[in-house]
Amino acid sequence: MDSADPRNKMIVALDLPDLAAAEAMVTRLGDSVTFYKIGLELVYAGGMPLAERLIASGKNVFLDLKLHDIPNTVGRATAQIAKMGARFLTIHAFSQTMRAARESLGDSSLKLLAVTVMTSYDDNDLAEAGYRLNVKDLVAHRAQQAKTVNIHGLILSAEEASSMRAALGPDMLLVTPGIRPMGADIGDQKRVMTPARAIAAGADHLVIGRPITQASDPRAAAEAIVKEIAGALHK
Ligand code: C5P
Repeated sequence: MDSADPRNKMIVALDLPDLAAAEAMVTRLGDSVTFYKIGLELVYAGGMPLAERLIASGKNVFLDLKLHDIPNTVGRATAQIAKMGARFLTIHAFSQTMRAARESLGDSSLKLLAVTVMTSYDDNDLAEAGYRLNVKDLVAHRAQQAKTVNIHGLILSAEEASSMRAALGPDMLLVTPGIRPMGADIGDQKRVMTPARAIAAGADHLVIGRPITQASDPRAAAEAIVKEIAGALHK
């Protein structure tokens, strides 16, 4: 993957209800998009064969599967995904899970992204689940554990990117959702950042869904975001 190509910084979340809608979106976006994220909704609607077709056609694919199971199962599932040729896979940031996935990559170029604490959780939810740490401390704790077991990257909000970059160093990939171009509809996201600011904060890749997939002209929206990213990279 050419890291100098600003298109590779933008990952379009294919959060669409069925395969036909997803395929139509990919066709519409054409070469304006090089990287797609396929999540659980689409996976259960034929998303894995679509992922294989996208990879075969030269696109980069991020499988947002958020794996978490006993180490043997996580390891074997990771090995299957590594064989497919996907670029990124999400796992939950539990040490056993991260270690099992890390040891199962073989000679593939699959990179693992850890989800520290899901953004739908607040301090009360963690206490209710029996955790002693609050969200902020648990995120920091798990991010350090991810680094210790050589996980390639983290999913986090763009607001956390610069402090995580400072804490974890230059090698950890930081992948940020919650991106909204200036003036775009925020939807259900609470904390948002523009593409240029997220890049300036140290994000390596931006996950962007509705600002592109719900735009009246998705291709124009994608091209405008890539242009903004390119501008931020050259600052
Ligand atoms: O449409 P939108 O740009 O908000 O899509 C963002 C994508 O990133 C969705 O696929 C969403 O599930 C994902 N995501 C997120 N916040 C997180 C983790 C993942 O928005 N904390």
